[in-house]
Amino acid sequence: MRPAETDSLSFRTFNRLRLIRAIAGPALAALLVTFAPASFAAGASGDTTWISLEAEVFETLRAERFQHNFQPLVAVEETEGIVVTQVHRSDLAEISILFHEKFHRCAGFMRHDTLEEARATVQSAIASKADSFGGSPIDYIIDQPELVQSLHAELDENALLATITTLSTDFNNRYYQHPSGVAASEWIRDLWLGYANGRLDVTVELYDHPWAQSSVVMTIEGNLYPDEVIVLGGHMDSIASGTSDPNFLAPGADDNASGTATISEVIRVAMATGFQPQRTVKFMAYSAEEVGLDGSQDIAGDFSDSGVDVVAVLQLDMTALNGSVEDIGVLTDWTDPTLTNFVEDLIDTYLPDLLWVNTACGYPCSDHAAWTFEGYPAAMTFESRFGQHNSALHSTDDTVATLGNSGAHAIKFARLASAFVAEIAVDVDSSIFLDGFESGDTSRWTELVP
Ligand code: BES
Ligand code: ZN
Repeated sequence: MRPAETDSLSFRTFNRLRLIRAIAGPALAALLVTFAPASFAAGASGDTTWISLEAEVFETLRAERFQHNFQPLVAVEETEGIVVTQVHRSDLAEISILFHEKFHRCAGFMRHDTLEEARATVQSAIASKADSFGGSPIDYIIDQPELVQSLHAELDENALLATITTLSTDFNNRYYQHPSGVAASEWIRDLWLGYANGRLDVTVELYDHPWAQSSVVMTIEGNLYPDEVIVLGGHMDSIASGTSDPNFLAPGADDNASGTATISEVIRVAMATGFQPQRTVKFMAYSAEEVGLDGSQDIAGDFSDSGVDVVAVLQLDMTALNGSVEDIGVLTDWTDPTLTNFVEDLIDTYLPDLLWVNTACGYPCSDHAAWTFEGYPAAMTFESRFGQHNSALHSTDDTVATLGNSGAHAIKFARLASAFVAEIAVDVDSSIFLDGFESGDTSRWTELVP
């Protein structure tokens, strides 16, 4: 069972960000949620379009308008802190630049073709936030210490670093439309296929989108609850901000070869140890996150349309630079609070020496949001407090050298992610207990795990 369906239009209107790219280049794709101002004619004409954005952000853009050259912004509607306004298409590039300067986001708006579409998107965002408080599809219980320890024993930070290095040097432009971005997705598929080594209950596939770069999805079929799905994901694409030149180097070692490599290391160890989940586990390397969460929205939308029962999602985006006193930033926005608490419990249980901190992006900053938009429970962890993360992201300096040529920080996330997968994918097998034992009862661990 999964949380109530959200409006079917939902945040897949994010995909419309692709239109912005067509008009004004890739740096525009981000987070402004769009709607239209009263000073324009009703309905989007060829010259104007709608955006939606947080009220606070809207006010800042308005205040800064005079230093920048765009038309006045008028809030047409405000619903629970989200403003809808209308802008001239020719102003989108300038707004994007201001966004980058003020909020250090790549661009930062959601665009909509019509006011109706903007309204539907905002309603869906609000509904999906409310949904996340409406209970979880399964109980998240920590009861697999032996299994988790057996996975942890095999994790290897050098193997993880080697994958970051290959992705960021052999494929140092993984832009979603670039041939090298396409080659990167094929390389990841082959890497994961190699780890699976012909295992019959495992598939590895390219997930095609209506653009060049595919996502990669590896599936281990659950042997007890195959219809309940756990997703461990991160984006494989990279981007160089401030340019629409698709040939600009974008090594993206931290953002997000690191998350992709962290997932790959979890897969390597799962396969090497013969890990057998009861629930189905899907590992995902998303295409086209950097241009508006397009790959993950495509997949989460398809899953929702076909009623796939996703019971938990963990997103890894930027895992390799130790930027704050705390080791792990646990994201509190656009995530599910219950699943997020569970992730915190996992850290306390299995990584007791690490410090974690609750932190927020302040906008739907990565693919976890695509799942949240569809009403699925998602959590996201990353390398630091927000704001103390790698400042080289989206630049030619996002290299393994900037990461100190080390997988030491990222391996912490492989430990966390492997615990996440194992604990959610496997319940205590009540058949091995005496009568009266309830699945999830941890009171007799000591009998099981001396
Ligand atoms: N990796 C970033 C998000 C991020 C930034 C996570 C800082 C943790 C700390 C992601 O790839 C990204 O760049 N997201 C865009 C927004 C997206 C909707 C295009 C951004 O932050 O501008
Ligand atoms: Zn990024």
